[in-house]
Amino acid sequence: MKKLVLTGAMGRLGSYLREPLSTMCDEFVSSDILDAPCKLYANETFVQADLADLEAMVDLLDGADMVVHFGAIGDEAPFETLLGPNFIGAYNIWEAAHRNECRRVVYASSIHAVGMHKKTDFIGIDAPHKPDTFYGLAKCFAEDLASMYWDKRGLESVCMRILSCAQVTNPRAVGTWLSYDDLVHLVTQSIETPITGFSVIYGVSNNDRAPVDNAKAQHLGYRPKDNAEQFAQAMFEEAGPLDPQDAGNTHHGGPFASVELGNSGIAALNLNADDVAKS
Ligand SMILES: NC(=O)c1ccc[n+]([C@@H]2O[C@H](COP(=O)([O-])OP(=O)(O)OC[C@H]3O[C@@H](n4cnc5c(N)ncnc54)[C@H](O)[C@@H]3O)[C@@H](O)[C@H]2O)c1
Repeated sequence: MKKLVLTGAMGRLGSYLREPLSTMCDEFVSSDILDAPCKLYANETFVQADLADLEAMVDLLDGADMVVHFGAIGDEAPFETLLGPNFIGAYNIWEAAHRNECRRVVYASSIHAVGMHKKTDFIGIDAPHKPDTFYGLAKCFAEDLASMYWDKRGLESVCMRILSCAQVTNPRAVGTWLSYDDLVHLVTQSIETPITGFSVIYGVSNNDRAPVDNAKAQHLGYRPKDNAEQFAQAMFEEAGPLDPQDAGNTHHGGPFASVELGNSGIAALNLNADDVAKS
């Protein structure tokens, strides 16, 4: 591959992806609204740009084969706050990819696109959208953009519905954990699979208690290795009895399923300082 672009490069997940992605292409362009990182990899250039600026996105994707789109506000917030980066930003990425004749968008979607399904429903990749927040609604919008740009304009997409890519610090994560190694494998497979069309896949490790079914995404060859069962006993002991009436415990979206619209869901997740510091 000649040119690969990563948005959200200064974010928590982007920071884990820069190095492995830089080895997959001749020219690696990382981008974020934040300042450039201190150290760039050998073939990396950094472009500071706002996802909400269409012309900037068209310039960013000039000559790119693919874009790995991780830039967004990564939490629930008022609709007006998410409108620019998450909604308009998503349109700008697919439109810029189309105008530049890119082959594929590899997109960080989220379980929150289907977060109001019950956990006792072992949902597959074809479960209907059921967003738990404005944040999840933006992921639904982006997935529908991906579907429409494939149907009408032949632009491929892989929508990776990531569950929880952070250290395991709460009982929910025993099912939802995506390890950083498995994240890199998932993104790599999404880039290297020769034909994807419009694909959806859950971003989750090989957890005994993974609450979602990737059976219909076999073509991507994603074979996660890590398993959060090693943390189960400690997480359940620490948390004590869980309330079976709390939507945060019973729905796929976890705390996002129970917070008021517009309020942070991450705040209730008990993330490690290490994870938060990188976000
Ligand atoms: N971390 C998870 O467990 C998880 C789960 C599901 C989905 N995701 C998705 O993965 C992606 C990355 O998540 P993260 O945890 O690294 O989040 P993060 O907040 O650490 O990173 C997001 C990055 O996007 C950038 N950004 C925000 N607004 C922008 C704008 N207007 N223009 C350009 N860049 C902008 C931020 O500066 C930040 O560096 C997000 O799209 C998030 O929704 C993450």
